[in-house]
Amino acid sequence: MFNIGRPVTGENFYDRSRMLKLLIRFIQDGQDAMIKAPRRYGKTSLIKEAFGEAKRKMLYVDLRRETRFETIAEKIIDYGYEIMGLQGFAARAGKSVVDLLSDAEKELSLDFGLVKASIRLLEQKERKEGHELLAEALDNLFAIAKSRGERFYVVFDEFQDIGEFGYKKDAVLELLRGTIQHHERHVVYYFLGSIETIMSEIFENRKSPFYNYCRRLTLEPFDYGEIETDLIAAFRGKGIVFEERKTLRACIERLSGHPANTMVVMQNLYYIALEKDIKTVTSDDIEMAYEAGYEEVLDLVEEYVREIKSKKHFHDVIYRLANGLPQRLKGPALRQVYRGLENMGHITRIGRGDYRINDGFLVEYLKEG
Ligand SMILES: Nc1ncnc2c1ncn2[C@@H]1O[C@H](COP(=O)(O)OP(=O)(O)OP(=O)(O)O)[C@@H](O)[C@H]1O
Ligand SMILES: [Mg+2]
Repeated sequence: MFNIGRPVTGENFYDRSRMLKLLIRFIQDGQDAMIKAPRRYGKTSLIKEAFGEAKRKMLYVDLRRETRFETIAEKIIDYGYEIMGLQGFAARAGKSVVDLLSDAEKELSLDFGLVKASIRLLEQKERKEGHELLAEALDNLFAIAKSRGERFYVVFDEFQDIGEFGYKKDAVLELLRGTIQHHERHVVYYFLGSIETIMSEIFENRKSPFYNYCRRLTLEPFDYGEIETDLIAAFRGKGIVFEERKTLRACIERLSGHPANTMVVMQNLYYIALEKDIKTVTSDDIEMAYEAGYEEVLDLVEEYVREIKSKKHFHDVIYRLANGLPQRLKGPALRQVYRGLENMGHITRIGRGDYRINDGFLVEYLKEG
C-alpha cells in the first residue's frame, strides 16, 4: 500500500491528479516537456504512472545510472525495434548481421535502408564521438517512427547530468537541441531533473539552446487536500479509520506535503495499526508514526547536514532559514550560499530573497540544534 525508496505506480501512487492529467494529455498530443522538482518528490513515479495510464511504451534513460553515450545510443536503437516487435537488435547486430537483416526483412514492414543505417551506426559506435552517436541514434529512431507513422517516446531522467559524460555540456546541448527539434511529434521527449538550478539554466536561460524549447512543469509538494483524501481511502481499504481527520491533516502539513517523507510516516502508521491490531488510529499513533518516520530518514538527514557543513557559511544560512532567524551574511555572499544550497537541492527559491527548505525532516533537525 505504501512503497518506500523506489518509484511508485498504480495502487501505490497517490495525489498528483492535476499533473497526471496534464502529462497524459502531453503524451497523447506528442508535446515535449521538462519536469523539475527536488529529490524524492516523485518525478520518476509521475512519469512512469503517466505512461502507464496513457498505455504507451517509452524508453526510460536515467542519466545518473549511465556512464557512456554509446550505451544510451544502443538502447535507443533497441527501443525502436522492440516496439516493432524485434527484440535485442543491438546485441544481434554485434553477432550476425546477415541473420538480423533476414529476420528484419521477414518481420518488419520497414524501409530496408533504415535497418541498414541502424546497423551501420552500431558498427561505427567506437569510432564516433559519443554525443554525435547519440544524436544519430535519435535521428534513426525518428526516421523509423516517421516511416511507420508512429510516435515514440524518450524520457531522460536526471537530465542535469548531461554534462557529465566527458563532452562539453554546451556542445552536447547544442547538438541535441538541433537534432530533436526536427523530430516533432514522431519522437517525443521528456526531461526530468532534480537539481533545479541546472535544469533552469538549461531550459530557462536565454543563452541555452533549450531555452523555451518545451513545456516546463514544476512538481510541487503533495496537495494537502488530495493526499488527505487519498490516504483516508487507502486506510479505509484496509479497514482502518482515523479517529480525527484533523490530526491526519496536521501531520501532512507538518511534513509540508513532502512526498517521500509522507509515505515513510504513513507506512509506519500502517505497521503500527497492524501491530497493535487496531481499527481506529488516534493522534498518539500518528505522533508515534511521525517519530518513527523521522528516525528512519535520520541517516539521510545527517548526511545532508555533513555535506552542508563542509561548505563555509552554508550551515549558518540554512540553520537561520530553518529557525526563522535573520541572516548574518548579506548581499552577494548570501546569494552565493543560497545558490549553492539550491544546487545541492536543499532549498528552493519561492520569491525575491525568499527560500523554502525542501525536506521538512531537515527543518526539524535544524530546529533541534
Ligand atoms: N505520487 C506518489 N504517491 C506515493 N508515493 C510517492 C509519490 N511520489 C513520490 N512518492 C514517494 O517518494 C519516493 C520517491 O519517489 P521517486 O523516486 O519517484 O522520486 P524522484 O523525484 O524521482 O526522486 P529522485 O530525485 O531521488 O530520483 C517513492 O519511493 C515514494 O515513497
Ligand atoms: Mg527519480
